[in-house]
Amino acid sequence: MYQNSYPIGVIDSGVGGLTVVRQLQRLLPGEDIIYFGDSANCPYGNRSADEIFALTLKMLRFLEQQQVKCVAIACNTISTLVERLRPECPFPLVSIVEAGADYVVQEKLPRVGLIATEFTVSTGAYEARIHAGNPDCVVSAKGSPKLAALIDKGDFNQSAIDEEITEQVDIILAREPVEDLILGCTHFPIVADNFHRCFPQLRLIDPAEQQALAVKNLLVYRKLSNPQTRGYLKINTSGDPEVFAAVAKLLELHGPDECGTLAL
Ligand code: DGL
Repeated sequence: MYQNSYPIGVIDSGVGGLTVVRQLQRLLPGEDIIYFGDSANCPYGNRSADEIFALTLKMLRFLEQQQVKCVAIACNTISTLVERLRPECPFPLVSIVEAGADYVVQEKLPRVGLIATEFTVSTGAYEARIHAGNPDCVVSAKGSPKLAALIDKGDFNQSAIDEEITEQVDIILAREPVEDLILGCTHFPIVADNFHRCFPQLRLIDPAEQQALAVKNLLVYRKLSNPQTRGYLKINTSGDPEVFAAVAKLLELHGPDECGTLAL
């Protein structure tokens, strides 16, 4: 039996999932959060499905030992494999792709752009979920082979970031005149300012907000909300904890209360 006081698990290939932590802390300030970011193996978006599955299972096993009551998959790339992962876990998994796609349907958007990792785009997971709810919605999707890895290094002033954003979004716009763009990789909202600067006319959709809402709904439904006023944030990474501390500061997170290295 799960208890209200158990923490929420959050996983990503690296620092990107901290953009989901930001939304979780806004919506569910009382929840304790245990995060794992697998920066040693980032980017996942250029790997095979079997590799991503195997690496993710290691993170989920770690969180199982921490007695989490649910896990937010704060990584679009991993979320495309959620149906394969669910039978492996005793706790519920909340997918960011499902949350983001459902938002597009709910808002009745006639067309939308999607920038994500190459793996996420290759699976067609966003299109499938959007078209299940709105078959007429036009989705113009483009994978970025470089952006997540550039961001995971923690240097956001590189001109390479703006160049990669411009190159990929120009392709999306050449195909369809979209006004809304899904940031379909959790690393991308960290450089939302770069997107705004390069494409001020676009409305950016960060699916993290919807995913946090989905976590809240799950906890309320299962009567598992934590009644305390302020939860802790414990960050574990297979990479450099200093990058995580810097991104946590940039995103104005509460904490981290702990931030350290842990091999998978
Ligand atoms: N943050 C991850 C996502 O949302 C991907 C980054 C990566 O390629 O590892 O897809």
